[in-house]
Amino acid sequence: MCGIVGYIGEREAYPIILNGLKRLEYRGYDSAGVALYDGTHIQVSKTKGKVADLESRVASEISTQGKLGIGHTRWATHGVPNDINSHPHYSNSGDLVIIHNGIIENYASIKQELLNRGYTFTSDTDTEVLVNLIEEIKKQHNVKLGKAVQIALNQVVGAYAIALFDRNKPNEIVVAKLGSPLAIGMGDDEFFVASDATPFIEFTNNAIYLEDEEMAIISKRKGVKVRKIKDDSLVDPYIHELALNLEQIEKGGYDHFMLKEINEQPSVIKDTYRGRLLADRGIIKLGGLEDHIQKFLNADRIIIVACGTSWHAGLVAEYIFEDWARIPVEVEYASEFRYRNPVIGEKDVVIAISQSGETADTLAAIKLAKERGAFVYGVCNVVGSSISRETHSGTYTHAGPEIGVASTKAFTTQITVLTMIALRLANEKGTISKGDYMTHLRELEMIPSHVAEALKSEPNIKEIAHVFMDAANFLYLGRGYNFPVALEGALKLKEISYIHAEGYPAAEMKHGPIALIDEQMPVVVIAVNSNHYEKVVSNIEEIKARKGKIIAVVTEGDTVVRNLADYVMEVPRTPETLSPLVTTIPLQLLSYHIAVMLGKNVDQPRNLAKSVTVE
Ligand code: M6R
Repeated sequence: MCGIVGYIGEREAYPIILNGLKRLEYRGYDSAGVALYDGTHIQVSKTKGKVADLESRVASEISTQGKLGIGHTRWATHGVPNDINSHPHYSNSGDLVIIHNGIIENYASIKQELLNRGYTFTSDTDTEVLVNLIEEIKKQHNVKLGKAVQIALNQVVGAYAIALFDRNKPNEIVVAKLGSPLAIGMGDDEFFVASDATPFIEFTNNAIYLEDEEMAIISKRKGVKVRKIKDDSLVDPYIHELALNLEQIEKGGYDHFMLKEINEQPSVIKDTYRGRLLADRGIIKLGGLEDHIQKFLNADRIIIVACGTSWHAGLVAEYIFEDWARIPVEVEYASEFRYRNPVIGEKDVVIAISQSGETADTLAAIKLAKERGAFVYGVCNVVGSSISRETHSGTYTHAGPEIGVASTKAFTTQITVLTMIALRLANEKGTISKGDYMTHLRELEMIPSHVAEALKSEPNIKEIAHVFMDAANFLYLGRGYNFPVALEGALKLKEISYIHAEGYPAAEMKHGPIALIDEQMPVVVIAVNSNHYEKVVSNIEEIKARKGKIIAVVTEGDTVVRNLADYVMEVPRTPETLSPLVTTIPLQLLSYHIAVMLGKNVDQPRNLAKSVTVE
């Protein structure tokens, strides 16, 4: 994780870097720093804490002048978050200064060699080792910075997106990428470097996304030269035209990005199916699927790989694919899949789900599946992300930037895409009746208005949040399609409020978790209309008998559960198959309001980062 930013051009670099770091803070926020070249010296200011802490420190510590600079916001891997371990890091001579997102796995042996040669280290980071390795190579081989970086990177094992410059050649920034993302914004005689395009969106619409094992020398005079790290050969990079705008990456009047993103769901779900779902004509058409549909239709099974919330969306998809398309599905944590020698055949289709498209474990799982001959399909949100490029084909969710660390709109738009794929395949295979198919297309089109309706319960949910904000534990229960929603509800609560919460299939409760239930235990039960409704009602009775406090998500007009539960959160009626798209809404709002009431940093919860680009 970590966010990196750089600028070289005719403007003052500091405001651009500072603003860029604020936009990248979702990637890590335990420390931050900048290095600026003021025409004579490199000036570094860095601190444990957030970008706002850096801003106060810079004001009293360094001059902010300079038209070349780099900046970093950190999520610690090697070395605790403190001022010294914060980036940027100098080389021993003070000539080079570097920022890094990633992990150098063989840093310990390199460090030992450098120690033997007399190098000293002030921090515990792998990054300080890397910058000194580059310095040593530069000296030993008597080469320029770019060449030294290329030689050094051929010696390191791990992942990186780096940016560095040399005070003796302050007209260029050298960048390189393997595993962590790196975009270069192409202005007129000015260039930007960043982990994603948001830091430079108001300056240019043109960007190069470096591929793995590529580096670039960015110079004011000579522009951007991209090379392969392995053999130094020149690359002709593709210049992407960006479709992002500033409004999308600002809070738009909401207190938090998370709340904005929760409220965006009616419109982004529509964006997800716009032009792809033509309910009146009975058509689902997904660009990435059309050329590969036979692969899905002939598949022995579908393996879904993902992490966190995206894994929960995968679990929902398992129900839908098996139910409608009658294709066996396995849903795997990418982090387990990649290391357990899985049996994968050429007739397996692997679906990788990821909001960021940068999750290291998911990326590694994709690579493994490809090596073993599987066809890999991506469901990603971030256009041009590593996963979208690594997969054979895929569908974008079009949810727009998701900045709150807790994933909300990514979940519902992922389910929307997966639902469309499943319906398309079921129709093609004839495993769904024409009537059911048409009904579900029309119902899917109704989901945005149902979500908008569910959002109207926010005042009621806020009151419930107030009652339970001091609870030490929560249990979330659901069955069938809503079991993954229970898991997702529990994840949302624990990650932003730090309250312990567990999600369970409601029927599993009696195999253990029921022992936890007493009058102190709030139990959130998803009890909407479904094939399992009566069974869920029985589960609620079991909780009541043990004095647990029941907060139930019910279908509007429900009376049975309403009479049993202590509190209810109503959602509009949908077919059971589509219900996760609405039942998740009150759970998102409940966790949001509890976290706000507890005074937690909702958008940047402790220890987390938005995209997990390390294993
Ligand atoms: O970007 P991805 O969808 O691959 O991210 C996967 C998880 O890291 C992510 O869903 C994480 O669990 C969220 N913080 C959950 O809200």
